[in-house]
Amino acid sequence: MSGAPEADTDAAEETGDDRPRDSRRVFFALWPDADTRARLARATKDAVRHSGGRPIAKDRFHVTVAFLGNLSPAGLEIASAVPPIRVGAFALVLDTIGAFAASRTLWLGAHSVPPALVELERRLWDALSAKGFIREERIYRPHVTLARRARPVDAEITPVDWPVGELALVESLPAGRNVHYEPLRSWPL
Ligand code: 2AM
Repeated sequence: MSGAPEADTDAAEETGDDRPRDSRRVFFALWPDADTRARLARATKDAVRHSGGRPIAKDRFHVTVAFLGNLSPAGLEIASAVPPIRVGAFALVLDTIGAFAASRTLWLGAHSVPPALVELERRLWDALSAKGFIREERIYRPHVTLARRARPVDAEITPVDWPVGELALVESLPAGRNVHYEPLRSWPL
């Protein structure tokens, strides 16, 4: 697939420089509203500071459900036709700070992953696979990325209750040395 090697900037890491001209880098995600975003930022501020990492701006917070990578216009149209996936709205309680050591990523996850989110990811990928999209081998671990180049921290945080009612298709766009995430469409669950 399209995984780019780890690099120092998000732009290099996430947009790469090898994509075909008309391709769009996209993923399906849970996209928080402004209130949830603010609560996520408040709850995780200290943990991020202690990690010494480079914080992810709160307007980029999300939980990826299915990463698709660089798609042609036709591929994007096919992916966009897959939802809705009707698992019903659910509450996601994010309460656990963790780290991916290999990529030095600090994240916020859920001690208890709602069955509806597990089902959403499975049914979305079942439908995408049927259209020829290839899922990565790794186990799905829903998380909000908080900081990069971070040290793991042992932090207790105030749990953030996120009412999830939609699935979004989001585009990752280069923005200087960074990336900007732009929701393209969303569907009720
Ligand atoms: P991450 O935050 O843990 O890096 C946009 O890049 C989103 O898709 C991010 O949430 C990222 O997860 C996720 N993602 C999943 N697989 C990816 C891959 N192979 N390359 C880049 N991003 C990926």
